[in-house]
Amino acid sequence: MQKIISLCKRRGFVFPSSEIYGGFGSCYDFGPLGVEMKNNIKKAWWEEMIRNHENIVGLDAAILMSPKVWQASGHLTAGFADELVECKSCHKRFKLDEITQHPELSNLTSGVCPECGGELTEPRKFNLMMRTHIGPVEDEAALTYLRAETCQGIFMNYENALNSMRLKIPFGMAQIGKSFRNEITTKNFVFRTREFEQMEMEWFCRPKEAEKYFDCWKKERLNWYLNLGIKKDNLRLREVPEEERPHYAEETVDIEYKFPFGWGELEAINNRGDFDLSNHSKNSGKDLRYVDPSAGSGQVKERYFPYIIETSGGIDRSFLAILCDAYQEIKGGRTKTTKAVKEIEVLLKLNKKIAPIKVAILPLVRNKPDLVKKAKEVYQLLKPYFTCQYDELGSIGRRYRRGDEVGVLYGVTVDFETLKNNDVTLRWRDSMEQIRVDIKNLLEVIKKLLKDEIEFNKAGKLIKVSSK
Ligand code: GAP
Repeated sequence: MQKIISLCKRRGFVFPSSEIYGGFGSCYDFGPLGVEMKNNIKKAWWEEMIRNHENIVGLDAAILMSPKVWQASGHLTAGFADELVECKSCHKRFKLDEITQHPELSNLTSGVCPECGGELTEPRKFNLMMRTHIGPVEDEAALTYLRAETCQGIFMNYENALNSMRLKIPFGMAQIGKSFRNEITTKNFVFRTREFEQMEMEWFCRPKEAEKYFDCWKKERLNWYLNLGIKKDNLRLREVPEEERPHYAEETVDIEYKFPFGWGELEAINNRGDFDLSNHSKNSGKDLRYVDPSAGSGQVKERYFPYIIETSGGIDRSFLAILCDAYQEIKGGRTKTTKAVKEIEVLLKLNKKIAPIKVAILPLVRNKPDLVKKAKEVYQLLKPYFTCQYDELGSIGRRYRRGDEVGVLYGVTVDFETLKNNDVTLRWRDSMEQIRVDIKNLLEVIKKLLKDEIEFNKAGKLIKVSSK
């Protein structure tokens, strides 16, 4: 983890928040490469959920909602609280449920602090909702909460979407956005923070069909991670036992990733039953039952609370898992062309869709104005279409390695041949193979490579052309 954290800071993926003031406990800022990568994850999810399904619609609900929402959802009561124990000597705090999952903390059950051996307090409930006040007077009437899950915004707009988009069950509503939880313990970099981003889809279906869809979404979501290139051995599904399930769930399966610190939840697939719509109906007085339009004339139309199958993933955790999975160290380095001995070379084998920079444009040397001019022209040619980086500092080998370390997919080198023949070297990150491409074809070639429409062999011969 330390290597990943250090790469993130050094190369502009993630910075500690408010660093010049000494940092701000477990808050992180996504830097220039981090925000590109995070946006790519969100785009991949949105494409998968909204574009690839004809019956899922999107939403962007406000973070602030009436506090009545959180009363009805059960988040203000014991349902959304962690049990906290604190050491009376060193004042370190632990979540009680961490104990069951981590045997090395088991002496907590005997009331002894695993850090210093001090005496622990009795467990007490600690609600995770983040409080805030609306308006200038901070009294109880102005109290509300930063949302703890994006899906409550979906439940608030279930009827609006149903009516305005003339939807019929089964259908889904999807949303990406920030959520906040006053976590007792934050740890493992961006894995558990108090401010994070979720990508959630709520699938409204007939109660009878809930099991079928639960099974189906579980598989679809696991495949999404596999298709982003995460190794199969590092992913697993975990049935969550009843005592660990959230208060709203009848059934939960977590998609877990094998992080350097152990298996951790990436995404929860929940069968929320009719918990949300029936509770919001009861508390708001608004009948949120679905009126099934399929009954024939003269027949009574069936009314029921749809069941909800939820897929709830965390973007920050996907980001971390993808980074960990892509990170490779090559002892002695990959290039054998120079005599320089490298201890270790880092390669970030990010998926095409996720890599924050697609193309690096590199003039062979920087003290030849003609070369630099040509390289900048190539940069201007490609920049409107892909995230590109222009890099002229250091030897060409060093610049390739700098790109490999942050997952740059293709290197385009402008050299002396370019000035004669108007072609460039195109270099692959993973194989380090290189071919010459005419500048007039370069844009199209990279576009097609990114869409997997073409491939070249080692000799630079075109070996695959898709039907498109
Ligand atoms: N609406 C259901 C729900 O929120 P959850 O299991 O509490 O379910 C879903 O959260 C996902 O949100 C988790 O799988 C994780 O990826 C992400 N998540 C939850 N708490 C988080 C935290 N404190 N920091 C980062 N990500 C978090």
